[in-house]
Amino acid sequence: MGLFTKKPIDSLIHDSSHGESNLRRTLTAGNLIALGIGAIIGAGLFVRTAAAAANNAGPSVTIAFVVAAVGCAFAGLCYAEFASMIPIAGSAYTYSYATMGELVAWIIGWDLVLEYAVGAATVGIAWSEYLNKLLAIFQMHIPYKWCHSPFEICNIHEKTGYFPDEFGMHGIINLPALFIIFMLTMLLIRGTKESAFVNGIIVISKVAIVIIFICLGWGYMNPANHIPYIPPATTFVDSYGVGHNYGGIWGILGAAGVVFFAFIGFDAVSTAAQEAKNPKKDMPIGILGSLVICTVLYILFAHVLTGVASVNDFRTAGKEGSVVYAIQTYMHGYGWLGNLVTVAILFGFSSVILVMLMGQSRVFYSMSRDGLVPKTFSNLHPKYQTPHHSNWIFLVFVGGFAAFVPGDIVGDMTSIGTLFAFILVCAGVWILRVTNPEIQRSFKVPLVPVVSVLGIIVCAAMIAGLGWTNWARLGGWLVIGLFIYFFYSRKHSKLK
Ligand code: ALA
Repeated sequence: MGLFTKKPIDSLIHDSSHGESNLRRTLTAGNLIALGIGAIIGAGLFVRTAAAAANNAGPSVTIAFVVAAVGCAFAGLCYAEFASMIPIAGSAYTYSYATMGELVAWIIGWDLVLEYAVGAATVGIAWSEYLNKLLAIFQMHIPYKWCHSPFEICNIHEKTGYFPDEFGMHGIINLPALFIIFMLTMLLIRGTKESAFVNGIIVISKVAIVIIFICLGWGYMNPANHIPYIPPATTFVDSYGVGHNYGGIWGILGAAGVVFFAFIGFDAVSTAAQEAKNPKKDMPIGILGSLVICTVLYILFAHVLTGVASVNDFRTAGKEGSVVYAIQTYMHGYGWLGNLVTVAILFGFSSVILVMLMGQSRVFYSMSRDGLVPKTFSNLHPKYQTPHHSNWIFLVFVGGFAAFVPGDIVGDMTSIGTLFAFILVCAGVWILRVTNPEIQRSFKVPLVPVVSVLGIIVCAAMIAGLGWTNWARLGGWLVIGLFIYFFYSRKHSKLK
C-alpha cells in the first residue's frame, strides 16, 4: 500500500461505532457551542487584542478581527461539512485520511499537536501571568524564577510591575503553568460529561465578563482615542527592539495574524464528533455557532477597549494587563470590575486549556486506532471511558512546554500549526467533492471551490505574515513527524 492510501469513508464511519474502545455519545448542540466558546475566548482576546492595537493596528484592530474571522469562517464552513459527513473523533486528521491519504493524514495529525498540545501550553503560560496579577491584588507575587522559563530574563518592563527586586534574573521553571495543566488533565480523565459541565459554568462567566465590559465601558469611551481609526502606515519598534508594520493595510494584516490566536479552538468542536448525540446536525451548529458568537463579541470588545484606553497606554503601562489597566485607570468606580476580570480571565483560560487538551487526546485516539501511534493512546479508562493514558502522556509533553518554553514562541507555533491545518481542511473539502460526490452531507459548504480557495489564500497570507522563524519551526516539527512516520507509523498502519 502506498503513502497516499486513503481510508474509505464507510470504514471510517464503521470504525467509529464498532470496537471495544468507544467514547460515549453525551454532548448536545448546546454543549458543543459551549465547548467551542470555551476553547475560543481566552488569551487571544484578553491579551493579544491590546498587543495588536499597540504594535500593528491601533483602533483598526477591530478590522483585523474581521479579517481573521473571515479566514476562520471559510475554514469553519469546511470543518462543518466534514464534521457532518464523517462524524467521528479526530477532526482534520480523520478528514485528511479520507481525502488525501495516509501520509497527509499523518502530517496533519502531527501538526495538530502544535495547535492543541502546544496551544494548551501557551494558554497555561498566560494563566501563570494572570495568577500573578491576581496575587498582586493581595500584595503578593510568585518569585520570577518560579513562573518563567529558563530562556526568559526579568527585564526593565517587569521591574516596573510585580517583580520589583528580580531585575536581570533568569527564570527556572513555570510552576503555575504546570500546575493548571496538571489539574485540568485530572478533570479530563474524570470524563467528558463532567468536563463539559465545568466548562459550561466557565463559559457563562467569561461571556458575562466580556458583555459587562462592553456595556459598562461603552460610556467611558473617549472619541479622541479612535482618531484616526486607521493610523497612517509607519513602523513601530517595540520595547524589545522588534519592528512592526504599524497602521495602514499592512498594520491591519499584521494585527490579523496576531489576533488569529483568539479564534483558535472553534475547530476543537470537531474533535468531539464521536461524543455528540446527533453529530450530523449538531456539529455544524456547534462549529459555526461558536464562531459567530465570538466574532461579534470580539469586534465590540476591541472597539470599546481601544476607545477607553489609548494606544500609548497599551504600549507602556498596560501591556498584557491592558484590559484591567483600562478599567482601573479610566472607568472610575469600577475597580471591582478589574479584579473580577482577572478572576474571570483565570477561569476563562482554564476552559481553553481544557478543550485543547481534550482535542489533543481525541486526535491521538483516532490515530492510535488507525495504528499510526501506539495503542496506549486509545486505551480507555475502565470506569470513566476516557483515553487516560493519552491524557497522562500529554500531561508530560504539554507540561514540559509550559514549564520551560517562553510564551511567545509557543504562541506563534500554535498559530502557524493551526493555519496549516486549516489549509489542508479547505483543500480536503474540495477534493472530496470531486472524488466522492455521492456521499450524503447534511451540511454543504456553499460555492465550492471558491470558499476552499479563499480559505487557503487567507490562511496562507497569515502564515506569510508570521515570518521565517516560524516557517522554520513548522518545517522542523514536520521533519521530526516524517521521521516517526517512516520508522514507526507506516509499519504499524492498520490500513496496510
Ligand atoms: N482562542 C484561544 C485563546 O484565545 C486559543 O486563548
